[in-house]
Amino acid sequence: MKGIILAGGNGTRLKPLTKATSKQLLPIYDKPLIFYPLSTLMELGIRDIAIIVKSSEKEKFFLLLGDGKRFGINITYLIQDNPNGLAEAFIIGEEFIGKSNVTLILGDNIFYGEALKQSLSSKFSEGANILCYKVNDPERYGVAKISGSKVVEIVEKPKEFVSDYAVTGIYVYDNSVIAKSKSLLPSARGELEITDLNNLYIEEGNLRGIFLDSEMIWMDTGTFNSLHDASSLIKALQSRTGHLIGSPELVSYKNNWIKKNELSEALNLEITYDASVLSSLD
Ligand code: TTP
Repeated sequence: MKGIILAGGNGTRLKPLTKATSKQLLPIYDKPLIFYPLSTLMELGIRDIAIIVKSSEKEKFFLLLGDGKRFGINITYLIQDNPNGLAEAFIIGEEFIGKSNVTLILGDNIFYGEALKQSLSSKFSEGANILCYKVNDPERYGVAKISGSKVVEIVEKPKEFVSDYAVTGIYVYDNSVIAKSKSLLPSARGELEITDLNNLYIEEGNLRGIFLDSEMIWMDTGTFNSLHDASSLIKALQSRTGHLIGSPELVSYKNNWIKKNELSEALNLEITYDASVLSSLD
């Protein structure tokens, strides 16, 4: 399984914060946003990860994450200068994906909770796995239309009620995702839509919807309110539990990909986290 993080886009809703830098480099409490989706892929056991960025931003991402060795992973940087849609990730990433399966995560999505790991990684063999999450405002998202326990269609930003289940920004696909993405036509807004891609898997009878709600937290951070809420929540959860959330160094250590001395070095020298959180590691 390979992983792709989509970290391009214009971040229009966050201007002027995103005028001089990428949304995914903005802080969520004590870490850059991209640390969270990166940690999620690593929690799923994925070590070969491509990050899709704008060419003007590549150097900044590289300064932050490098080639991934200090996290025990390999990071490849790929370029998307125009936001032509989420499904373009698999065309840009064709060579990187090779003959593997691939998990795509949006660079501005934060997931927290063990349920994700258990549900997404353990049950994938072929087709597509998508994660659906119960929300109050489904009209803002791609929404899963459900019959029994099956997803029968995904409707993008429905005007009439379809269900409460929004399709979140993490998707697991088999290798046919490359050919399927190439067959898509741009939508009315000019993008290769992930919803169209998922509907192709549904037509084949090969899409599995995983439904989670209170067992985990899902946040997207595309607006001022959601960015602020995410920072507040991470701060509150970390101080309350003493667990560091969204730390690629810590995930790497837990996965036995780096040793304890490498972890301490990374945490102490490169990033200064809240001292109370650091003390919880012993
Ligand atoms: P969006 O939030 O849909 O788009 P955006 O980040 O450009 O923000 P805005 O709508 O305010 O302009 O994107 C979700 C994530 O996917 C985000 O991390 C950016 C990334 N993305 C790409 O990398 N390429 C794309 O073509 C698109 C549409 C999004």
